[in-house]
Amino acid sequence: MQKLKSIMQKEIFEQPSVVQKLLSLYVTEDDKIKIALPEKIENIVISASGSSYNCAAIAAPLFKEMVGIPCEYEYSSEFILQKKHFVTPKTLYIFISQSGETSDTLHALDIIKELGGMTMCITNAKNSTLWNNCDYKVLSDAGVEKSIASTKALCAQLLCMIFIILKIKQSRNEDLFIDLRALRRLPLYLERIIGNVDKINNAAKFVSKYKNIIILGNKNYYPVAKEGALKIKETSYINVMAYPFGEFMHGHVAVLNQKAIVIAIIDDENEISARRNIQKIKNDYSPQIVCITSVQSADCGDLNIYIKTSKKIKAIFGSLITLQLIACEIASLLKRNPDEPKGLKKVVKD
Ligand code: AGP
Repeated sequence: MQKLKSIMQKEIFEQPSVVQKLLSLYVTEDDKIKIALPEKIENIVISASGSSYNCAAIAAPLFKEMVGIPCEYEYSSEFILQKKHFVTPKTLYIFISQSGETSDTLHALDIIKELGGMTMCITNAKNSTLWNNCDYKVLSDAGVEKSIASTKALCAQLLCMIFIILKIKQSRNEDLFIDLRALRRLPLYLERIIGNVDKINNAAKFVSKYKNIIILGNKNYYPVAKEGALKIKETSYINVMAYPFGEFMHGHVAVLNQKAIVIAIIDDENEISARRNIQKIKNDYSPQIVCITSVQSADCGDLNIYIKTSKKIKAIFGSLITLQLIACEIASLLKRNPDEPKGLKKVVKD
């Protein structure tokens, strides 16, 4: 095992065991999900910041796709500026925060509590202000996360959101066999991706030469792209932009007139549209392209990282951990300390 370069890298490597721990904490051997939820949830509204917001953005479409529950999400800093909140008895407000102390998210909670709304938190900090003030509580239990760049906590938060979805399915007597089989295979899958770290570090070396980095992903992978951008921004101080493939072609693509590199996240659902847009980008601007792809046929980059799986849930975690490793290695190559980025602190309090 190579010498760990940072606490961030150590925490990225801990993710398979964090997933294993949460599976044993929240899923019984007879497939029961051990999370307390309100009886009837008609819609969900999530308020969070930073990586916790990106977790919400990744999970929200899964609530619609898997259990048909409308799920909105908003940056906590924007949420608290909203003039009106439509609180109903069947609306569940979820607040996601690694620290449980982020002031905007606590302020958002206060607004909803004032209006009598039903509240739930997903936090890594038991007995935090957020934990103590929510009706329903889910501990993401990732262990202490020391690096300012959140990695294992985000992974744990996302897994908890998926457990909530499965709990709703279970309350409807729907079968969880296929979902739980994929989740039970997640630790080994993530270990395999970490085992490919030399190839990932090679991609990071390629990317680290650029000041203009674009990460593209569709649907569930657009917030994954945003999270990857945040990781690189906050550890290497490079301005990285994330877009959905299609939207990128509406003017934003002109930034490729400058020297740039594109990281494209591809899975079987978006392969056709992704390849079409990549081909157009290549024809018009010929940037260097790194593909993170769960389908082998989509190896259309100058460098391709294959995160082989046919399961979307696994591909989401796989692309997340790959981007975390790329960000961590870029920081190391640029001689940055990813654990204590200049000007950032772990808990954002007034
Ligand atoms: C994530 O890498 C950042 N450190 C930051 O965006 C963080 O996610 C955000 O400040 C929210 O923190 P919280 O999850 O503790 O509320």
